[in-house]
Amino acid sequence: MLLETKGLTKRFGGLVAVKDFDIQVAEGEIVGLIGPNGAGKSTVFNLITGVFPVTSGRVLFDGRDITGKQPEQVARLGIGRTFQLNPLFHEFTVLENVTSSFELHPHSSLFDIFFNTRKYRRNEAFIAERAHEILHVVGLERVADELAKNLPHGHQKMLGVARALATRPRLLLLDEPLSGMNPSEIDTSLEAIRSMRDHGITILIVEHNMQILRLCDRVVVISFGQKICEGSPAEVRANEEVISAYFGADYVC
Ligand SMILES: Nc1ncnc2c1ncn2[C@@H]1O[C@H](COP(=O)(O)OP(=O)(O)OP(=O)(O)O)[C@@H](O)[C@H]1O
Ligand SMILES: [Mg+2]
Repeated sequence: MLLETKGLTKRFGGLVAVKDFDIQVAEGEIVGLIGPNGAGKSTVFNLITGVFPVTSGRVLFDGRDITGKQPEQVARLGIGRTFQLNPLFHEFTVLENVTSSFELHPHSSLFDIFFNTRKYRRNEAFIAERAHEILHVVGLERVADELAKNLPHGHQKMLGVARALATRPRLLLLDEPLSGMNPSEIDTSLEAIRSMRDHGITILIVEHNMQILRLCDRVVVISFGQKICEGSPAEVRANEEVISAYFGADYVC
């Protein structure tokens, strides 16, 4: 397994937001994490990426225990993520939003940066090239020089994904990447996410929009912090507990 959580639990005061939650994601999979508002989905992401300390339980990445690591360490180990509120540099161009997400010149010293050495310029060129590749994958290459604030909503969401890709993740956690998108933006985005997987990235995706089921190999359903069902998209769609979690116990199909 590339990612595994064991008995993951998070309390906020008296509220148990995530309880005994186990999830496994194999290398190369696209796994969906779905559930009603407030179910604990974003909290699971925040626990995996070290934004919140866990109350109990463990997070394993590629067999290694990463529980309690800081977000930068988790990112460096190969887990990238987007955020539900999609923070961007609105006054920067699309390209600059991506290049600024690369680790700050990993091969350049302060000397190289200050004196603009050949090594530094080579690094700059490398980063620009990688950023263009990423923009190509997410379908934003044609708007590389636009200011982020001028993009339509769907493009802004994909720019958030592009920024996460700049950290060169093996595993990418996407928090509601389709929210607020129109049907054609959704189609384009699903295609882009598929293409990321084809580039070798494993994906765990939180979404309310059930279109996501078209994309996922497996789906895990969380309600009130606990896993209530797991299986193929077809199995999950047919599960009565899932239907009642979403629509209330009295719902009739
Ligand atoms: N920092 C925090 N402090 C206190 N309570 C929190 C905090 N973050 C989340 N919660 C609570 O934990 C529960 C789970 O929240 P979470 O944001 O994980 O849900 P979610 O499944 O992502 O919901 P949504 O679909 O609305 O994004 C909610 O009751 C929420 O109010
Ligand atoms: Mg959320």
